Amino acid sequence: MRIFLDTANVDEIRQAARMGVVSGVTTNPSLAAKEGIGTAANYREAILQITDIIDGPISVEVVSLDAEAMTEEGWGISKWHPNVVVKLPSTTAGLEAMHSLSKEAVKINQTLCFSLNQAILGSQAGSSYVSPFIGRLDDKGHDGMDLIRDIVEVFKIHEIKTEVLAASIRSPLHCIMAAKAGAQIATIPYKVLCGMMEHPLTDAGLDSFTKDWEYASKS
Ligand code: G3P
Repeated sequence: MRIFLDTANVDEIRQAARMGVVSGVTTNPSLAAKEGIGTAANYREAILQITDIIDGPISVEVVSLDAEAMTEEGWGISKWHPNVVVKLPSTTAGLEAMHSLSKEAVKINQTLCFSLNQAILGSQAGSSYVSPFIGRLDDKGHDGMDLIRDIVEVFKIHEIKTEVLAASIRSPLHCIMAAKAGAQIATIPYKVLCGMMEHPLTDAGLDSFTKDWEYASKS
């Protein structure tokens, strides 16, 4: 399973890139707003900085709501950089925009996916990635991981090439479960990425190695 970072924070992306485990980035209007980005020009500037750090797919979401405006906005975004992937919502208008843009070879990430039917339709409209939102389904009392399993299974049966990008990940356990369910990619916040590497036995082991070495070197 590949790891993408789910953030618009350039410093976090720079930090994570040093570990060599991140192969893409996903953003959305809320993540951009969190970084004080409120205009298309600022969004573009941040995305271009990110493309300098990570050489992989960088998802940028449209803010338009009707099909024509989404298509126009997505087309403009796709010109920002060759690695940019346009994020479109799981709505009928989103499908129209996916269809129009994918015909022009624009890579699409179908976002806000909460059902298998939405994922199937997006794949037929030309999505390269589908982003099922695990955490938000869990928040509503559903098992978000069931959706990942269902999409992975159905895409396998029907040899659908759209990649399953597990999103709205809230914990290291979500990452483990997404990997076991067969998601090709998990997009995760920086804090969760660090949490994936933490283990108290690693810390305790390092502590005792250091103390033992100090003791031995002094005697
Ligand atoms: O990739 C989608 C993600 O940013 C949404 O996460 O935690 O806001 O549900 P969350």
